[in-house]
Amino acid sequence: MSVGKNTAHDAGPLHVTGAARYTDDIPTPRGTLYLASGLSSIAKGAITAVNLDAVRVADGVVDVLVAGDLLHDNDVSPSNHDEPLLATGDVHYLGQPIFLVVATSHLAARKAARLAKVAYNEQTPILTIDEAMAANSRFEDGPRIYTKGDAEAQLGKATNRVQGSFEIGGQEHFYLEGHAALAVPQEGSDMVVHASSQHPTEIQHKVAEALGRPMNAVRVEVRRMGGGFGGKESQGNALCVACAVVAQKHHVPVKMRYDRDDDMIVTGKRHEFRIDYDVGFDARGRIQAVDFVHYARCGWAQDLSLPVADRAMLHADNAYNLDHARITSHRLKTNTQSNTAFRGFGGPQGVVGIERVMDHIAHHLGLDALQVRRENFYASGGNISAKMKSQTTPYGMEVTDSIVREMVDALEVSSDYQARRRSVSEWNDKNPVLKRGISLTPVKFGISFTLTHLNQAGALVHVYQDGSIHLNHGGTEMGQGLFTKVAQVAAQCFGVPLDVVKITATDTGKVPNTSATAASSGSDLNGMAVLNACEKIKARVAKFLSNSEVVFEGGLVRFDKQELSFAEAVSKAYQNRISLSATGFYATPDVQWDRIKGHGRPFFYFAYGAAVTEVVIDTLTGENRILRADILHDCGRSLNPALDIGQIEGGYVQGAGWLTTEELIWDARGNLKTHAPSTYKIPATSDRPEVFNVALWDGENRAETVFKSKAVGEPPLMHGISAWSALSNAIAACGDAYPDLDAPATAERVLMACQRLRG
Ligand code: MTE
Ligand code: MOS
Repeated sequence: MSVGKNTAHDAGPLHVTGAARYTDDIPTPRGTLYLASGLSSIAKGAITAVNLDAVRVADGVVDVLVAGDLLHDNDVSPSNHDEPLLATGDVHYLGQPIFLVVATSHLAARKAARLAKVAYNEQTPILTIDEAMAANSRFEDGPRIYTKGDAEAQLGKATNRVQGSFEIGGQEHFYLEGHAALAVPQEGSDMVVHASSQHPTEIQHKVAEALGRPMNAVRVEVRRMGGGFGGKESQGNALCVACAVVAQKHHVPVKMRYDRDDDMIVTGKRHEFRIDYDVGFDARGRIQAVDFVHYARCGWAQDLSLPVADRAMLHADNAYNLDHARITSHRLKTNTQSNTAFRGFGGPQGVVGIERVMDHIAHHLGLDALQVRRENFYASGGNISAKMKSQTTPYGMEVTDSIVREMVDALEVSSDYQARRRSVSEWNDKNPVLKRGISLTPVKFGISFTLTHLNQAGALVHVYQDGSIHLNHGGTEMGQGLFTKVAQVAAQCFGVPLDVVKITATDTGKVPNTSATAASSGSDLNGMAVLNACEKIKARVAKFLSNSEVVFEGGLVRFDKQELSFAEAVSKAYQNRISLSATGFYATPDVQWDRIKGHGRPFFYFAYGAAVTEVVIDTLTGENRILRADILHDCGRSLNPALDIGQIEGGYVQGAGWLTTEELIWDARGNLKTHAPSTYKIPATSDRPEVFNVALWDGENRAETVFKSKAVGEPPLMHGISAWSALSNAIAACGDAYPDLDAPATAERVLMACQRLRG
């Protein structure tokens, strides 16, 4: 068996020895030139003059390009054709690329880029959610609204009612490998691009447009990324297009990478949200009606903001069955970096909204928040009562696979939640300075791209005559272990050891028209496409060997009482002119959805989980620690428990970082002040909870997925919400009022909240 085993990441030894080759490590051909961009120093205005004289004569500079020098399309947007590679007249955020410096080294290009003199007619930028609302600055005509039942009427009749409004900060991806690209011109002005991208096909598409060539003139290769986290779905387009355009002009290879500061200043991040809520509930905490308003700060260009904001709405219910709900979403255009995909793709913001509501209801009623959550969970798959007939999300999708109740029951016991809750409360009674808090939050996350046509994947598998296998598919490797999992699928199918399968770089010349590796569906989609390709080859070999059953197992092929090694079997097939190469394809069934109406079945299934976090805060300084985290997560029949647990641990830490220490700050001019690790605090190894218990739920996916597994990439990030909720719970011990905590709950915010409660 290959599938289900704790196989190590295929590149693990390469990662830890530094031998793994990232885009910047690819040996460059002689004569390679390097790029840097000159960035806008204001957030909004018109460019009145650009003096590049000093840049042009600087050491090592070969050329300087402005928008007018681009021969074809000046656009790197993944969606709306509203994102010029180089500014054309107006600038829309501080950090927007205005010109490109071409030089003989990376450093020379960067140094020269600073010598430009750009004059602007400066205007007042729209930076905040309030400013954007006041100016009606948005990406759609008005807000998008999803409704179920009649929230307004029911709120009026509700037994109890609370309202609130809070801010959720954005998040820098902080992939350890920054954006990088290398374009190598080929004969006949074709182009090969090496990219650090989750979406090679998009790069191919945008580079082809910029070169004025068809897509078949461009081949994009991605072996791996040093992390993507959604930040490399669309935002690598600019570097790849820039390199390709200059490579075409100068007929030499061209490379570009963003220095960390540039990466943070130029590229978009997780969307900041404000969420207003108005909720009505009974004495037990059962929600009667809820009204959410989401305000998403999208930045200057549309990028993926509309589907991100959609996914936030689609997760406004999280694991809770809401009878009456209204969700309103404002997609606001601001003079800041163009916000983009980030692990969870808006979902986490939606989930934070309802988890905050649960905490607020519990505080209002003086109940344990877990009890309130339980009152509201979706019924389990098998237990939807006749009276209920069915349970649907606010967007009309039936929920038939919920296991949230069972999982929460199990986690409550395994984490010793009740006893620890009591000891937290005893501790808080005795200790005036240090206060503890504990919280259990669930996750239900929808799996599939909400843009339905993206739910497809292709694969290419070759079996060579010596029995070795060459594996290729449209997914990209960013550390999540996709390549290992998909190789396990191929090995399983042919019944061969894993080391027979060669994992190869994603390549638009091998598998075309791929979707981004995103929406957590990398293994679901590519695993199935690879299975499809392998099954084709296997069927051909089997048919050639025998009319009766042929079994591929343990490196052997057995049929009609005969036994051959896999290599002997395929060699025989080759001698007899049987094709040992196949493409595979997969399209997710049953998904259909109207994003304008907000109705249908956007997801193939849901992934579930729950987490308990215990924290301690110092109420005199705001300093805080996660003491313990317990997570139970649902990966269906895990393809690889070790990799899945890695995803869960990493997701939790990244989610907790987002909601606690990672704070983005812009000044009044729209200048991002937190653009390096010195000022932007991602979790360090020492921030990993001292006690960290992660377990996988023992179950299988009810949907027909690859070996009954479930997607795992994004959902665990939302377990970090339990850390934020636990902080709020600890602060609540300082007084009677509701803590009203914004995210990120930095030490400063924790301290201020304690002081508010203490009056
Ligand atoms: N894990 C690592 N180590 N690095 C990453 O960049 N990206 C996350 C998640 N886990 C990421 C990661 C995101 S945003 C997604 S959508 C999924 O992995 C993508 O991979 P998958 O679909 O194969 O799970
Ligand atoms: Mo992940 S945000 O879907 O790349």
